[in-house]
Amino acid sequence: MNTLIKDLLNLDQDATVEVRGWIRTVRQTKATVFVELNDGSSLQNAQLVFDLQGWMHEDLNKLQTGMAIRVKGLWQPSPSPQQPRELLAQELEVYSAALPSDYPLQKKRHSFEFLREWTHLRARTNTFGAIFRLRDRMAASIHNYFHQQGFFWVHTPIITTSDAEGAGQMFHITTESTEEEFFGKPAHLSVSGQLNAEALALALGRVYTFGPTFRAENSNTVRHLSEFWMVEPEAAFFDLEDDMRLAQGLIQHLLRDALEGSAEEMEFFDRWIQPGLLVQLRQVREAEFTHLTYTQAIEALNQAEVQGQQFQFAVHWGMDLQSEHEKYLTEVYIKGPVIVTDYPKDIKAFYMKQNPDGKTVRAMDVLVPRLGEIIGGSQREDDYDKLSQRMQQLGMNLETYQWYLDLRRYGGAPHAGFGLGFERFLQYLTGMGNIRDLIPFFRAPSQAPC
Ligand code: 4AD
Ligand code: MG
Repeated sequence: MNTLIKDLLNLDQDATVEVRGWIRTVRQTKATVFVELNDGSSLQNAQLVFDLQGWMHEDLNKLQTGMAIRVKGLWQPSPSPQQPRELLAQELEVYSAALPSDYPLQKKRHSFEFLREWTHLRARTNTFGAIFRLRDRMAASIHNYFHQQGFFWVHTPIITTSDAEGAGQMFHITTESTEEEFFGKPAHLSVSGQLNAEALALALGRVYTFGPTFRAENSNTVRHLSEFWMVEPEAAFFDLEDDMRLAQGLIQHLLRDALEGSAEEMEFFDRWIQPGLLVQLRQVREAEFTHLTYTQAIEALNQAEVQGQQFQFAVHWGMDLQSEHEKYLTEVYIKGPVIVTDYPKDIKAFYMKQNPDGKTVRAMDVLVPRLGEIIGGSQREDDYDKLSQRMQQLGMNLETYQWYLDLRRYGGAPHAGFGLGFERFLQYLTGMGNIRDLIPFFRAPSQAPC
């Protein structure tokens, strides 16, 4: 097996080693050819040195940016201050054919827009390599966090016959060969695993799902994907307070792991993508999140308007918070993450627990600077009558949801949960501007390259 470059860079003694990877740059001086090699294991490259005396010129002349090669040689101290060590090449194998001149990653830097047209190659750049390595660490960290808290990872179906969010923004599944419904009734790609997770939480106690979800909304924004990953914990005997503690704990756990375990990548984002990022995230990692009720949030926004703040959407009680309002609350009013609770029931999903005031529900959204909402959650309505009445009011088909109502008839219990959009969280973590750059292969309206 070849040595990974990330391990090689930590090796502080002379050794004969073999590395494999892709050439980032080739540079030639009178006596030497220098190659920067990257194998994806780390942001950093290994410097390979070919002493021209020991090599046929034609062998080295064919080396090009983008080629995959294997090199065996001596890992030794480097005379240059750029790096402590370099690999003096003794053996070379070239895996790739000569690259045609239209290879798109020749330049040192490319715009993210340009790279979205080369989705299949963009992971070879510093930024996307860093994003996908960080994404991996955060996925592992999510599993660690929930297991530490006594949660089981459960797998909920992607094909569903109920609309969890009641927003009607679903992809309909059919077969190509028949007009009939394959499942005997309309089936869709799931917008959320929550309803199924509730069934499991009311048996296993604490569970979470982590997988892809789908939304057919025609939102061409930098915060929306048609296919995105969501983490959804659901816990029996949790109320909204417990739910908020769990959410804050998750975000802070992820920040700790990112800042410690992926320090190199995080420094890269701080330097090249979002200056000031590290200072901001270190603060959020430690501090208690501010809590506001929706009503308090509306009052703060009204107050801002009185003081001359202009919003495109005028503020009034009952409205859904727009991204400009979320930004104001997090960036100007609180200057950090905010958890907004107790939203009007009419702008939230049917399953949320109704407050005694008859107007609001036990909802909570976690809002963060730059992005607005990254978590949406609630305590669930556990009263059979209230839930079925609400569903009827909303014109939902109770037969389809009888199984969900059953959970309130057979051993019902208070429970709560939330959903964290994984790419939104990664956007917050990296400072990247467009959510399409946080998932390897993005799907958005009219866009599904490879
Ligand atoms: O607020 P949402 O719609 O909540 C639910 O789906 C609940 N069933 C979750 C639960 O309580 N178990 O979505 C949750 C989060 C949002 O806060 C956002 O971060 C993300 O999912 N999200 C999206 N991310 C990318 N693209 C989209 N189109 C998204 N829609 C929601
Ligand atoms: Mg939401």
